[in-house]
Amino acid sequence: MIEIQNLTFQYKKSDKPALRDVNLSIPDGDFVGIIGTSGAGKTTLALSMNGVIPHQIEGDYYGKILVNGLDTVDTPTAELCRIVGEVFQDIDSQMVSSVVEDEILFGMENFGVPHDEIGERLERILADVGIEDLRHRRIASLSGGQKQKVAIAAILALEPDVIVLDEPTGELDPESSRQVFSLLRKMNREKGVTVIVIEQKIMLLCEYVKHLLVMENGAVRFDGPTREVIAHTDDFKQLGINIPRVTELYGLLSAKKDAGERIPLDVEEATAMVHKVMGR
Ligand SMILES: Nc1ncnc2c1ncn2[C@@H]1O[C@H](COP(=O)(O)OP(=O)(O)OP(=O)(O)O)[C@@H](O)[C@H]1O
Ligand SMILES: [Mg+2]
Repeated sequence: MIEIQNLTFQYKKSDKPALRDVNLSIPDGDFVGIIGTSGAGKTTLALSMNGVIPHQIEGDYYGKILVNGLDTVDTPTAELCRIVGEVFQDIDSQMVSSVVEDEILFGMENFGVPHDEIGERLERILADVGIEDLRHRRIASLSGGQKQKVAIAAILALEPDVIVLDEPTGELDPESSRQVFSLLRKMNREKGVTVIVIEQKIMLLCEYVKHLLVMENGAVRFDGPTREVIAHTDDFKQLGINIPRVTELYGLLSAKKDAGERIPLDVEEATAMVHKVMGR
């Protein structure tokens, strides 16, 4: 459980806050998407959740974040990282090894996972993430999507309660992006991992996440169940965030006919809506 209370943060060398009075509650087992224009404060929020802010990055910090009841200001980052694992925006800077299995072992060894458990956990995580065949590959030889899965596996091997991903599909093609989201959904559903993902591809977010958070200028503009948040079509346009085409179609259809109460979130739901409107 992550609780953020009145969090305001301003980087040391900045003249305006990067986060402004953020209040947020993320229950265990949630799958949250965070969207917002560039500079809205998404990465700053992510770095605050595992204590990198204010422990490693200094600035003016007001308010409070509680992670499983622990105040991030009073808790060492080594301890917080066991609860909140983070895959950074630039995964190349996060990777330390040249071979896949070493990358996953490195974290476990550093986090003091007992030696007799390490081998078994490595095999389990490779299977869970579906990358057994990559085990002995050099990281430099992997595709973007494969690399992203390795980064996720290395974090999940530490068995955090929460995983935060900062634009994990930024450099991936649509097929690999979908694979990453499917993996996150599997971990969320089967292992109960709380997933928080910052993402620009709103269609993917809408299909997968339970909650959607829209950030603007350091503040949380919308926060709620995905279908409710996505209903603010005009606000999204004003923020310069493209709404999914299926949502746009709902808007166009319901202006003329009864398209139903439910805004479609994926192609399947949009197809059902079109059939309903056409009476077949
Ligand atoms: N290290 C830093 N020092 C000073 N200001 C910073 C620093 N990092 C970010 N900022 C500023 O804080 C604000 C929020 O930045 P942040 O990186 O959190 O936004 P973001 O929503 O992640 O953007 P993007 O979509 O571009 O990744 C911006 O105004 C940015 O310029
Ligand atoms: Mg960012």
